[in-house]
Amino acid sequence: MVLTPRFPHFLHGGDYNPDQWLDREDILEKDAEAMEKAHVNAVSLGIFAWDALEPEEGVYDFAWLDRVMDRLWRRGIHVILATPSGARPAWMAEKYPEVLRVNSEFRRNHFGGRHNHCPSSPVYREKVRGIDTALARRYASHPAVILWHISNEFSGDCYCPLCQERFRDWLREKYGTLDELNRAWFTGFWSMRYTAWSQIEPPSPMGQMSNLSLLLDWRRFSTWQCRDFISMEKEAVHACNPELPCTANLMEAFWDYDYFSLAEVLDVVSWDNYPAWRGGDDERVACGAALNHDMMYALKKQPFLMMESTPSNVNWHSVNKLKKPGMHLLSSMQAVAHGSQSVLYFQWRKGRGNAEMFHGAVLSHDGRSDTRVFRDVTEVGEILEKLDGKLYAADVPAARVCILYDWNCRWAVENAQTGLAHGMAYHETVLNHYHAFWRAGIPVTFCDMREETDLSGFSLVICPQLYLFMNGIEEKLRAFTEAGGTLVMTYFSGIADSTNLTFLGDAPHSLTDVFGVRETEMDALYPDEENTVVMDNGRTYRATGICSLLAEEGCEVAGTYGKDFYAGGAAITRNAYGKGTAWYIGARLDPDCLDDFYTSLASSLHLEPALDVSLPRGVIAHRRGDMVFLQNYSGKPAFFSLPGSWQDACTDEKVPDTVELPAWSVRMICKESLSGTGE
Ligand code: GAL
Repeated sequence: MVLTPRFPHFLHGGDYNPDQWLDREDILEKDAEAMEKAHVNAVSLGIFAWDALEPEEGVYDFAWLDRVMDRLWRRGIHVILATPSGARPAWMAEKYPEVLRVNSEFRRNHFGGRHNHCPSSPVYREKVRGIDTALARRYASHPAVILWHISNEFSGDCYCPLCQERFRDWLREKYGTLDELNRAWFTGFWSMRYTAWSQIEPPSPMGQMSNLSLLLDWRRFSTWQCRDFISMEKEAVHACNPELPCTANLMEAFWDYDYFSLAEVLDVVSWDNYPAWRGGDDERVACGAALNHDMMYALKKQPFLMMESTPSNVNWHSVNKLKKPGMHLLSSMQAVAHGSQSVLYFQWRKGRGNAEMFHGAVLSHDGRSDTRVFRDVTEVGEILEKLDGKLYAADVPAARVCILYDWNCRWAVENAQTGLAHGMAYHETVLNHYHAFWRAGIPVTFCDMREETDLSGFSLVICPQLYLFMNGIEEKLRAFTEAGGTLVMTYFSGIADSTNLTFLGDAPHSLTDVFGVRETEMDALYPDEENTVVMDNGRTYRATGICSLLAEEGCEVAGTYGKDFYAGGAAITRNAYGKGTAWYIGARLDPDCLDDFYTSLASSLHLEPALDVSLPRGVIAHRRGDMVFLQNYSGKPAFFSLPGSWQDACTDEKVPDTVELPAWSVRMICKESLSGTGE
């Protein structure tokens, strides 16, 4: 799958902000020279350049961009062209204050920062359409331009009267009548009943935060707003050249919008990857990044772009560590292993002032190219060039394991006022269930609960805290198991419907016969408490946080609680249903215990790891096409043997039987001769 048809190669480069250096032609010239030296072949231009592009209302200045683009193109450097709607000029905010966002306390923001716009404002939309159309007319057919970068990292909500009115319209469309909305939102609680649409306001610390159905619908509405805004921008740029694909850079584990929904209006998924590498044992951090990469692949079931990453440190983590030697290549190749068609950075050159002046960049304030960072970046560029012919068109292996990850569910779980006030931790829980597969190099994908979701091709479906059941997911899970699939579900699943009204009846809703079990009560544990789960295979697992009480209805008990008044009661159950098996996990198990649980499940289901060998802890093998990426996140050198004979994908040299992988290093290996790889 080719994401950028005009330049079907791995992209290497990143955000370039020449608009901050327009008084320094000498520097801009040096930039282009140094980019070539660093094997940069693509840059993202104009992300925050609205002010330079339209210095006065309706007066466009493209001369500088023409010069920059031509200069880059002369050196064969391609352009990912941004629409600048992420930050607006001061003249606009002054003349049309309605373009600015209203905060959740219903106060209008002032000019400043970025991502500070109202998505409903007709004036803002008109201005955005204006600049987008002008950019598209001028550059959509420029040979250097390979992709549209719509705005930047969409986020947040606006609470202005226009957005409120749109929310009410959206609700009217969804529920038809107020009676239906009152029913679906259970507004008999605390006298919440609405008698006119005009009474409905978005959730706010100044007003309503206790109506959990309102909270859920507000997130859905916000997603719809963002999607609508992206579509508007996409339409504007596509009017000139519909062939040029569009992306919008997403963020990791992002709460505000349902990314499965946003991905539907994007041609290409891209995301910004900033793991907080600790520079010691980084196994857990690497697992988090891997999950994010796999999620980005899963959004459209196709490769993606890593639109941003830092070549050294960031300036917004609590501790902004430098990457240890080797980590830059390792983390870049991790993205490629999981299906990225790029390694792109924020940013090319450090600015002289303001909030990001100390954020890592390829060129620092000294402008030198004889630095450690520049060498690291150049190395990545060279390696991408070497891998290009062998790997670019190769896909990641099809996953037989699917984790249901649904934003609706995540919002509802994390807003639920139950067991652990701050700890239902949806994303973290998913990560714990994902870990065992990542560690073994077994491909995993994610699906949400949309109507089109089809589970039939998977061997194993995992539902961590699938609290909401929507769009008939329960019937799909039943059919999947009946047909021979293995289903795993945890505590706090099948509790509420799509508007967050609990089902009246046993949990998990309508699946108690599939699991042969009912969840009757959910106990929460203080941070200094723990329980144990004693497995029928003799192992003992540690449980913390949540222990649900299960009533057996025909299941086999695979594990029982070791402590408390429910000691001896079922904690993990297994049930044969149709041709398949349904497991229910009642307790929050330690990550190590989940690893153990899934490792034996993976072996009984014959799920194929990237390499059939046991690797030291922190060493991961991951496959893309015929290539295996050996990655060492353990923080120390690792030694291990490989099954069979392998060659290095970059040097074509034979790999010795015992491999030494230094700390924070990566090695790409192939089993056979590389010619013909990557159909
Ligand atoms: C991203 C953003 C970039 C830059 C970067 C710094 O979230 O898109 O513009 O701010 O963070 O890490």
